[in-house]
Amino acid sequence: MLFPLLLSLVVCGAASFTFPTRLVLQSPTGLFLENLAVRPNGKLLITSPDSSTLYMLDPTAENPTFHEVHTFPNVTLSGIAEVQPDVYGIITLVLNATTISAVPGTIAIWRVDLSSGGPPVVNKAADVPDGMFLDGLGAVPGEPDLVLGADTAAGRVWQINLRTGVVRIAAQDDAFAPGASTPAIGINGLHVRGGDLYFTNSQKKTFSRVPISLRGGNVAQAGPIQVLGSANGTDEFDDFVFDAAGRVWVATIPDTLTLFFPPAQGNGMLGQLNAPGNPVQFDSPTSAAFGRGEVAQQHTLYVTTQVGQLIAVDTTGIRV
Ligand SMILES: *[C@@H]1O[C@H](CO)[C@@H](O)[C@H](O)[C@H]1NC(C)=O
Ligand SMILES: *[C@@H]1O[C@H](CO)[C@@H](O)[C@H](O)[C@H]1NC(C)=O
Ligand SMILES: *[C@@H]1O[C@H](CO)[C@@H](O)[C@H](O)[C@H]1NC(C)=O
Repeated sequence: MLFPLLLSLVVCGAASFTFPTRLVLQSPTGLFLENLAVRPNGKLLITSPDSSTLYMLDPTAENPTFHEVHTFPNVTLSGIAEVQPDVYGIITLVLNATTISAVPGTIAIWRVDLSSGGPPVVNKAADVPDGMFLDGLGAVPGEPDLVLGADTAAGRVWQINLRTGVVRIAAQDDAFAPGASTPAIGINGLHVRGGDLYFTNSQKKTFSRVPISLRGGNVAQAGPIQVLGSANGTDEFDDFVFDAAGRVWVATIPDTLTLFFPPAQGNGMLGQLNAPGNPVQFDSPTSAAFGRGEVAQQHTLYVTTQVGQLIAVDTTGIRV
């Protein structure tokens, strides 16, 4: 199932890299794949806004297929984040397909514990009754019970404690707000790293970071928001992932991945994977995560797409 072609990345016209890609799975129904988390055992957990089921897939299997982990009746799934080894927070909601937002009062956060190796232990942690549409979910390093949820329609960051069920607003800022009313898609992916919250805003086309503080188990904004890069034209940033070197790989609608330098090294944009003339493009990528396990897996970027494709990108060739 190897694509016969390579993705290439041109960096400021100076250097270029190629990345072999492989189609791991094409959902026969074209199921919209939204978000993923990689288990310590290397298996992928995948969510869809069109399915009630949390799926699992072994990307190293010869013919990978979806296995059901758990089904949440009458709701669909969005962001997923690992909060402690093999324990995850997951957003569920009822999606209004007309407004592309949550039906009011339907948003909840669940805790899914796969760490025993036996059947999953699934508990509802909290409802988020005042949430408008939670999309991305992020863990808070050092806080094994906390998740941060990106309310893409309201333009705020919710904090949910998976153990106590306490829900509060961690941050609210115009930089999180959507750029349109319906659908309203502002802050989308969010990840905490080294005392900063990094986030994308789809309609405002930005990738940014903001320092946060953690006092008494509560996250708060602790400084000004810094825009690290912008998408142009019809491009919009969705979810993203850091690699081991601190580079940031951003799923970019409609057809590419955008790569940023480690923010510590000057915040610059490296380039995009659909370099001019390259016939291989991602069809509406939504999120990305690196494999776990052997070295080859650690360099493999798994990308979910809106058209039901899971694509593996071998990033070994990158040298910046
Ligand atoms: C799901 O929806 C069905 C049909 O509306 C209803 O009978 C059932 O009680 C609902 N289940 C839950 C868990 O809400
Ligand atoms: C979805 O949104 C439309 C437009 O606002 C509204 O008319 C409809 O009642 C909503 N559906 C649900 C299930 O809330
Ligand atoms: C968008 O355009 C600006 C100005 O030309 C450029 O600096 C930036 O790198 C572009 N962003 C992307 C993602 O191509």
